[in-house]
Amino acid sequence: MTGTPVRSAIDAYTETFVEDPGYLDWAAFGPVSPAARAALDADAALLASGRPEDIAAAGRQGTAARQELAVLLDADADEVTLHPSSTHALQQAFAGLDGAVVASSAEFPSVTITLARAAEAAAGRLVPRWIAPADSRVTADAAADALDPAVVALVVSHVDFRSGYRADLPALRELLGPDRLLIVDAVQSFGVVDEDWSVADVVVGHGYKWLRAGRGTGFARFTAQARERIRPVLSGRIATSAAGLPVDALAGPAASGQAYAVSAPDQLAAGRSAAAVAEVRRTGVPEIAAALARNVDAVLETADRHGVPVVSPRDPAERAGIVVLAPADPAGLGAALAEAGVRATVRAGHVRVAPHAGTTAETLGMLEGALAGAAEFIAP
Ligand SMILES: Cc1ncc(COP(=O)(O)O)c(C=O)c1O
Repeated sequence: MTGTPVRSAIDAYTETFVEDPGYLDWAAFGPVSPAARAALDADAALLASGRPEDIAAAGRQGTAARQELAVLLDADADEVTLHPSSTHALQQAFAGLDGAVVASSAEFPSVTITLARAAEAAAGRLVPRWIAPADSRVTADAAADALDPAVVALVVSHVDFRSGYRADLPALRELLGPDRLLIVDAVQSFGVVDEDWSVADVVVGHGYKWLRAGRGTGFARFTAQARERIRPVLSGRIATSAAGLPVDALAGPAASGQAYAVSAPDQLAAGRSAAAVAEVRRTGVPEIAAALARNVDAVLETADRHGVPVVSPRDPAERAGIVVLAPADPAGLGAALAEAGVRATVRAGHVRVAPHAGTTAETLGMLEGALAGAAEFIAP
């Protein structure tokens, strides 16, 4: 039988990538998706009318976002909280912890600075246990030496922003055992890596890179074990056990994960988040991960063809969407890429190239062309 070919969900998803050609900087910022933009417009209209039912409808986006995130996390929506950023979510986790927390000193500052500040405020109750693993790879072996009875938790980026290394969460879970907390920053992987998040006690992330939802879309999941160990110190007015506004009495924190919230979420951010995550759910994370892997392979092949050293992992199990190039002259290559309209991040001697599942052949071709014309910056 002949006829119109059936458009798969992943094809429909990749067709929504309408950013400028040449965009290969998804690890820094994800151009906002048409679905998130449409949600923003619709919610802004609701908030502009002054009608109580419209304001209430926009207010329901917080619940919608938590429900959508819960599906991807395979969690209960009550365990998911919304935050202005993933750093705010990490603040919630660290502020209420007592004991030693293992972290790599090379982590993104959302981990290092937030943990250090929480420890300073804790006056000895919370102590960072810094490790310095080779190539910033927080492997179970690298973390094992830091464990002793004082350690109550390990915090790790699932995918390291600098090296591109994807940590083996089940191995870290096994190392920690059932009693210590595994706290995961999933900023560089959530929605594009098919992961069993249930191995972690706390997962934090945000929507402004790989989810394409824009800023203000931080979130966290706190399991029952996390809620037993982490006091809801920064718990605010919407995070109490009271039904409705807790006035004239000091209600205690909510019994659920909602205890780690502060105030009502930004409806516009929550609406963008709900729309973007729903699109990922409908498409399927395994399908998105496979499409991303193909584009990462294409970037690696292009780099190899032009002799650009690659220092990020090549093994699909150890990577997500970040390819790190180490040319002889990173600033020179970065400028050549920019000149050719290719967007990437140049930092600390490397050029970070990050495609997404919807990165087009045109964009990959622009990278090819730019590298072909930049031999002087590639070889020593
Ligand atoms: C691993 C990681 N965590 C956290 C952040 C910052 O997140 P936020 O701006 O939501 O605090 C980034 C930003 O690049 C990141 O790469």
